[in-house]
Amino acid sequence: MVVKVTSICCIGAGYVGGPTMAMIALKCPHIKVTVVDISQPRIDAWNSDELPIYEPGLDEIVKQCRGKNLFFTTDVEGAIAESEMIFVSVNTPTKKTGLGKGKAADLTYWESAARTIAAVSKTNKIIVEKSTVPVRTAEAIEKVLQRNCNTSGVRFDILSNPEFLAEGTAMDDLTAPDRVLIGGKIEGQEGTDAVASLVEVYANWVPQERIITANLWSAELSKLAANAFLAQRISSINSMSALCEATGADVSQVAYALGKDSRIGPKFLNASVGFGGSCFQKDILNLAYICECHGLTEVADYWYSVVGMNDYQKNRFVKRVVSAMFNTIRNKKICMLGFAFKKDTGDTREAPAIDVGNGLIEDGARLAIYDPKVSDAQIAMDMGAGMSNITTYKSHIEALRDAHAVCVMTEWDEFKSYDWGEIYGVMQKPAFVFDGRLILDHDKLREIGFIVYALGKPIEPFLRSAEGN
Ligand SMILES: NC(=O)c1ccc[n+]([C@@H]2O[C@H](COP(=O)([O-])OP(=O)(O)OC[C@H]3O[C@@H](n4cnc5c(N)ncnc54)[C@H](O)[C@@H]3O)[C@@H](O)[C@H]2O)c1
Repeated sequence: MVVKVTSICCIGAGYVGGPTMAMIALKCPHIKVTVVDISQPRIDAWNSDELPIYEPGLDEIVKQCRGKNLFFTTDVEGAIAESEMIFVSVNTPTKKTGLGKGKAADLTYWESAARTIAAVSKTNKIIVEKSTVPVRTAEAIEKVLQRNCNTSGVRFDILSNPEFLAEGTAMDDLTAPDRVLIGGKIEGQEGTDAVASLVEVYANWVPQERIITANLWSAELSKLAANAFLAQRISSINSMSALCEATGADVSQVAYALGKDSRIGPKFLNASVGFGGSCFQKDILNLAYICECHGLTEVADYWYSVVGMNDYQKNRFVKRVVSAMFNTIRNKKICMLGFAFKKDTGDTREAPAIDVGNGLIEDGARLAIYDPKVSDAQIAMDMGAGMSNITTYKSHIEALRDAHAVCVMTEWDEFKSYDWGEIYGVMQKPAFVFDGRLILDHDKLREIGFIVYALGKPIEPFLRSAEGN
């Protein structure tokens, strides 16, 4: 029987759970949506004027729906008990210890959520995997649910509904997704009905042709594969950026020419200091680990190399900074513009700025960090002991005052509109710009007097001679 869902609970009020549920609440006013989390501060923030995450457009939607059909609470058990459909959107980080350490997904939070669901469920539930998980997790979770439920006759249908939103554009992605993928046990009637129940929720705003159904394992694997393919494009263009610098080619021109090929397409071809975010690296490592577990060593190595290229790019950037500045950055003030892993988010998980910052500190630099959205506390948490060499600033011009160099770490739009003439005036000379995101007007900067290094662009004579070339 296809359940017409009127109550949804989402376990995990993070970057995925919060925005996704806000969108469901907005588009489905007939459905009561309750988002739960074990973190009281996170729930308090969702119930306040200062939401725990920054995402353009999110504030307005939360304010519109909160208290009407969108609720945030730490009453995990109560919300599960009264909902027909439970989304699980908890974190699935890379394992830090034990078997598969550094590669496999840590499903501790997922399993704990499943045990709670089993313990409090007195009626049938449709469980929706929103977290990114290894292939066949649904099978394992089903066993946990069935063996731990004390009420006889309760049925759990498990669906995989991986989330493809990108931070920074999450609300647009959720409003008009390229596709919604729903995996279930479509070989049987009950599985097909459960899939239909979730299709019906999305059909409130997503055109039918964009709602794809698949079997459970295909849906789970598609998410890992999608992130691996996206990251692989970034690593591919970044590998070209190194070759461009060596040969005098221009990576932007190469990317443009590549992107005009309709088989390749223009997106995700921006060379940069590297990809970050909570997902790409963890999902590739997880994918490669699954390959290893199936004896597919060559396939695993292929995907590991995508992460390897990303590390290479960050190291290469640090080396360029050091060698360009006459091989010494000891006690030099270096300003990092941007700390978030990409623009329009305050998320710093796996941000390239962390590794680059640590690399520069290792060489003796004093860092001045300015980011429009990342809090000082977050930077302190990410940089740990390195903080003794870091000052954070609320104004870009103060961060740049007396700096020897500026490294653009995030592609925030505001960096493009700064008065770079004024900036030149307050910096030490020679004033260096290291554009790790290729967002600035390099010719104009050179006219002002800056020495400019831009990833994947022809190296200017000053830098060649400083590097001894
Ligand atoms: N961040 C993204 O852009 C993105 C995109 C697509 C998919 N994903 C995937 O979605 C999942 C969630 O990612 P996120 O970025 O939202 O993570 P997050 O860390 O921001 O949020 C997860 C939340 O789950 C809560 N939680 C953990 N265990 C719980 C439990 N047992 N009961 C209640 N709450 C619990 C945590 O307190 C946390 O607030 C991950 O698997 C991730 O890979 C993330």
